[in-house]
Amino acid sequence: MCGIVGYVGDQQAQGVVVEGLRRLEYRGYDSAGVALVADGQIAADKRAGKLANLEKAIAEDTLPEATTGIGHTRWATHGAPNDTNAHPHIGAAGRVAVVHNGIIENFAPLRAELEAEGVELRSETDTEIAAQLLERAVLAGADLTTAMQQVCQRLEGAFTLVAVDAEDPERVVAARRNSPLVVGLGEGENFLGSDVAAFIEHTRDALELGQDQVVTMTRDAVVVTGFDGSPSEGTPYHVDWDLSAAEKDGYDWFMRKEIFEQPRAVADALLGRHDENGRLQLDEVRLSEDELRNVDKIIIVGCGTANYAGLVAKYAIEHWTRIPCEVELAHEFRYRDPILTRDTLVVAISQSGETADTLMAIRHAREQGARVLAICNTNGSTIPRESDAVIYTHAGPEIGVASTKGFLTQLIACYLLGLYLAQVRGTKFGDEIAAVVRELEQMPEHVQAMLDKAEEIYALAAEHAKTRAVLFLGRHAGFPIALEGALKLKELAYIHAEGFAAGELKHGPIALIEPGLPVFCVVPPRGRDHLHEKMTSAIQEIRARGAHTIALAEEGDDAARPYADRLIELPKVSTLLQPVVAVVPLQLFACELATVMGHDVDQPRNLAKSVTVE
Ligand code: M6R
Repeated sequence: MCGIVGYVGDQQAQGVVVEGLRRLEYRGYDSAGVALVADGQIAADKRAGKLANLEKAIAEDTLPEATTGIGHTRWATHGAPNDTNAHPHIGAAGRVAVVHNGIIENFAPLRAELEAEGVELRSETDTEIAAQLLERAVLAGADLTTAMQQVCQRLEGAFTLVAVDAEDPERVVAARRNSPLVVGLGEGENFLGSDVAAFIEHTRDALELGQDQVVTMTRDAVVVTGFDGSPSEGTPYHVDWDLSAAEKDGYDWFMRKEIFEQPRAVADALLGRHDENGRLQLDEVRLSEDELRNVDKIIIVGCGTANYAGLVAKYAIEHWTRIPCEVELAHEFRYRDPILTRDTLVVAISQSGETADTLMAIRHAREQGARVLAICNTNGSTIPRESDAVIYTHAGPEIGVASTKGFLTQLIACYLLGLYLAQVRGTKFGDEIAAVVRELEQMPEHVQAMLDKAEEIYALAAEHAKTRAVLFLGRHAGFPIALEGALKLKELAYIHAEGFAAGELKHGPIALIEPGLPVFCVVPPRGRDHLHEKMTSAIQEIRARGAHTIALAEEGDDAARPYADRLIELPKVSTLLQPVVAVVPLQLFACELATVMGHDVDQPRNLAKSVTVE
């Protein structure tokens, strides 16, 4: 959601900034703009729509050469997505330009104050308020850094601001509160980005900024302060992936590439997690064994796909540890006044580590004294930084808006957490844990076996190009997979898709079944006899009512075959781990169906990769 880029150095800023914006496109946006500092003036252009619109405009009406610049891709919150509301916003005197991510909550009184003083605002945005306030401070004699510190002390809400001053061409100043921003550290040049993808082709050395910090960037220096001007510092780190990881590598979509990266991602998520005796060691979990032994309740919070990873985790964690485990949508969590104590472990699952709903949930949990463990893919992001412990999923950058390898590696991290708790608390014997770990280590191979069926799934998708609704059924750990299969179709193919627990059919959803309706059925492995039988009966019931049944069942399972119009065979794995393989054909199906329907798979309409506002 909103991408921000800043640059100062000796390269042409326009190129660096536009390229940075391109790498942030995946976050979702509906307009784009740049501002450069050249010859004591701000030169800017901004356009509604895709980055290509901005590039076309700049090609027709060129901007002057400059080595300092800022850029923005906007996902509209205050005001429609049009040219006027696009960022950058420039003060009335044309001296200060600002880009912004987030929402300034007290924008109405600030706007009224400016209007009362005769300032004519051009846009409907909250950002323009910040531009005007900053410019007024600069015109009153403050340098841009001081102006930023002063203005930030007046703002409420969540924001990242990046500003340049026409009369101070060597300086870019930024600030952050509850919204992402990282600094890229170069040689004789420095960068700012909403995330490291913005500058990864220039440097892999980054500086993580804390809450309520202002950063001043020149070619040779990066200086961090608090909003009150007190000296402060960021945390330097090295990014462990490179540009090629953020490129499409010949695939048509980042999503497809990321689906095919899953065997590697799952293997990486498992790397180095146990010693030579098979004893799990989760170094990043900075909670003592005593603290983990005392945990009497687990609450998993997350949104969308991350929430479904949590639903799968519940089955595994309760089974292995016997600790009661609740799963809650992060945005519902704090509003129900959950019962939390020091012995409650809140597990926050987030690929991006920046989802505002999840962040607010963990802040609430910590305020109430609970411990928070993050399962996250993005090093240095806010959620792990504000948690007591973290398990990184090591999936590499996930660019497609639809989460795929992010989900699979979240599952792996959840399994590892469950097994680790079982080890610490002694609820499973070491050999039992080692057996599950061995099975997990076979998962990359099993996932690859599912990917090898891609052409079969693509053909199935092509047959359904005109389908307007699809249902998904599952039971036990297969139920969240039904939900995930449906979510993938909704967000990518824009068709009505629902996931149900198969046992719920007779309580209402079976009324939806009509001749020809495609229904994906995730059949539990035969190891769970009673579940397996019940699922097979459900398939018979819907087929009898005309549904077009597509069964996902383990190889050699002939029970579902007579009632399946199509059978997708899954490798034999245990019930709790089946989600890892069962979700793959559903991802492939959604990606291909959306492609066949002519949709933009990587940037589905109305969606943002990283939802940084509540
Ligand atoms: O970055 P997060 O994991 O916190 O994101 C949570 C959801 O917004 C995300 O999973 C979303 O549902 C995806 N678009 C699903 O594909």
